[in-house]
Amino acid sequence: MVKKNIRLEVMQAIEPKVGEFMDSFLIPIEDIWQPSDFLPDPKSDNFLNDIEQLREESKELGYDFWVTMVADTITEEALPTYEAWLMDVEGINQHEGKENGWSKWVRAWTAEENRHGDVLNKYLYLSGRVNMREVEITTQHLIADGFDIGTDRDPYKNFVYTSFQELATNISHKRVGQMAKKKGNALLGKMCTIIAGDEMRHHLAYREFVKHIFGEDPSGMMLAFADMMKKKIVMPAHFLRESGGSIGTAFENFSNCAQRLGVYTAQDYIEILKKLNSYWQLDAIRELSDEAEKARDYLIKLPSRLQRISERMAFPEDQYQFKWVEANGTL
Ligand SMILES: [Fe+2]
Ligand SMILES: [Fe+2]
Repeated sequence: MVKKNIRLEVMQAIEPKVGEFMDSFLIPIEDIWQPSDFLPDPKSDNFLNDIEQLREESKELGYDFWVTMVADTITEEALPTYEAWLMDVEGINQHEGKENGWSKWVRAWTAEENRHGDVLNKYLYLSGRVNMREVEITTQHLIADGFDIGTDRDPYKNFVYTSFQELATNISHKRVGQMAKKKGNALLGKMCTIIAGDEMRHHLAYREFVKHIFGEDPSGMMLAFADMMKKKIVMPAHFLRESGGSIGTAFENFSNCAQRLGVYTAQDYIEILKKLNSYWQLDAIRELSDEAEKARDYLIKLPSRLQRISERMAFPEDQYQFKWVEANGTL
């Protein structure tokens, strides 16, 4: 007997709605912002003056700030890895003609995301504050290494991951933008804020996908969610390496920077989890298997458990010297 592929059936059941999701959560290409809207215009007579101003303003920002910007940029630049990963997920089929709703979603989402690495990379290059060659080597390593985010080809787990990750990037881009603005760097502030806006729309979409899956297969979805949280949501930055380094070695140092600056902290992880638990209304879900009941219990108690752990965590104050950024003081 052929075993039923429930995940494929669930994805097929939701697929007719993907067009609506795209209308609600993505912006038509002709209407959305482009990197050029935020960068000096090379056709303008003022181009060189504008670059001069951009470079002056960027001198106000310190070492930790640039390390975080670099890591955020590299994380965006690893987009080929995410697209390849998502295209391989059960139910997302790019071979069934261009009409498979889910593969259309992945292409359109990728196309929006692609602008993030593009604008950040150009900005970093123009700012003159970072060692671009080292940044480029790390980017190439990250894409060449690939990474396992622990989701397999399971759409349930993948959409938990993306729901979580999109909100995490929203938070970190937003905070970086606020910091830039505070230091008088209005252009960079605007740029990061608008990227954060894209991340928020994507987060809203992915959490909606999960909500629909809960409607179709509540026990399966609950177990997948709990499984992802048990493994912890591993950020793509986890796999960063510098030139000459081995995979993952740059992450801890970067993470310390992000914690010190407060752009993405252990507390944020807990807040994201609480938001997901409440949007998916875990306590209201009916007809769960015994195993899924246990998974729900675990998920509902998890935020306070993590809270207790995070209160005991300490972060070293000393700075590691990344090759990406010359030491130029701290914020
Ligand atoms: Fe992004
Ligand atoms: Fe994103």
